[in-house]
Amino acid sequence: MKILVVGGGGREHAIVRKLKENPRVETIYCAPGNGGISADAVCVPIKAPDLEGMAQFARQEGIDFAVVTPDDPLVLGMVDALNAQGIATFGPNRAAARIEGSKVFAKDLMKKYGIPTADYQVFSDPGEALDYIRAQGRYPAVIKADGLALGKGVLIAQSEQEAADALHTIMEEKAFGASGNRVVVEEFLTGPEVSLLCFCDGRTIVPMVPAMDHKRALDGDQGLNTGGMGVVAPNLCYTPQVAEACMEQILKPTVAAMQAEGCPFTGCLFFGLMITPQGPKVIEYNCRFGDPETQAVLPLLESDLLEIMLAVWDRRLDQVPVRFSRRHAACVVMASGGYPQHYETGKQIFGLDAQGQRPDAVIYHAGTRREGDSFYTAGGRVLGVTCLGGSPEEALANAYRAVGEVSFEGAHYRRDIGARNRRP
Ligand code: AMP
Ligand code: GLY
Repeated sequence: MKILVVGGGGREHAIVRKLKENPRVETIYCAPGNGGISADAVCVPIKAPDLEGMAQFARQEGIDFAVVTPDDPLVLGMVDALNAQGIATFGPNRAAARIEGSKVFAKDLMKKYGIPTADYQVFSDPGEALDYIRAQGRYPAVIKADGLALGKGVLIAQSEQEAADALHTIMEEKAFGASGNRVVVEEFLTGPEVSLLCFCDGRTIVPMVPAMDHKRALDGDQGLNTGGMGVVAPNLCYTPQVAEACMEQILKPTVAAMQAEGCPFTGCLFFGLMITPQGPKVIEYNCRFGDPETQAVLPLLESDLLEIMLAVWDRRLDQVPVRFSRRHAACVVMASGGYPQHYETGKQIFGLDAQGQRPDAVIYHAGTRREGDSFYTAGGRVLGVTCLGGSPEEALANAYRAVGEVSFEGAHYRRDIGARNRRP
């Protein structure tokens, strides 16, 4: 089979490497891919949002199956464009991708179908939003741009002034473009967060190993929000009791709700959950694999990823095995100094072999460029270094040992990944 993976980060590298394990796979193309991915797939210089370019390439190249993972092409409708060319796909179509593409859609869905989430109101006028926040008088107040905003559209205001500033940034300055035409103002929730990625074929939903992301740039959850600085899996806060409650109150009702709305979800449905004192609630839905969650979750998958994805396409997910190892995984992200703000690129990376790998870890490339047998930094997040172990501590020790052997000028990584991963 000829497979196309759309995207070019650490998540796509993890997916490519897992798909390669299937002996039916002849060639994997990755668009646009990156330096490290080029050791595992044929990289094609088509940018992810280029729907028509991608569909045309897939048809000309005779692609048998396309996996679309980044949020923007999914929300724009790349799956629809590929399907229109007769290409089988993994990922939601445009209608189903609204579950991530519009927070108003997601919140209204949860309210209509009784799925637990933070209380909220929707506003298209900043003055009315501020009046509401003032009348509530409860801080912090959570303000979210309706549409995609590169992961930066959630602002947590500690005071009326901060709320006014946030509304101004989103709705008047349009810092996130049309994504800020409407906002959701919601209740601030507390509790540990869990990233739960699930395979879903529109009817059947199968959760993967629960993961714990680390969004802030610095140790102790300080500093700015990033795309994610590391992940451990399984997330020990997600006890069997919590899992059962989530399956009945959140996972199954979400699948049924999407069906009832006429847009059944197929692909990877990602639940951002908060385990609050009142029980688990949905913080957000994503219509795709998480990055870097995937870099810790997929190495634990023992079943064949391609067979699962093909079963999702054929709506027979209930008929394939989806088994995970009982081991533990840790992924530590190595970033360019300064990320998520200004950073330099083009720094040579030391400690990798000619394939961009190491014998003691799996190295997922997020932002690298390759020149012959050498690799150079080419993005904010550069590498995800993943190791497994028989315990959380062992997985982390293995990952940090490998991280210590890799270097580039200005490299930054958190030293406390997984430190909060405890059973309640
Ligand atoms: P997002 O960019 O949508 O992933 O959200 C960023 C982060 O904001 C989440 O991971 C949460 O930590 C936080 N957050 C979002 N909504 C709420 C809420 N209602 N209460 C507390 N924290 C929240
Ligand atoms: N790591 C969170 C996300 O992929 O949105």
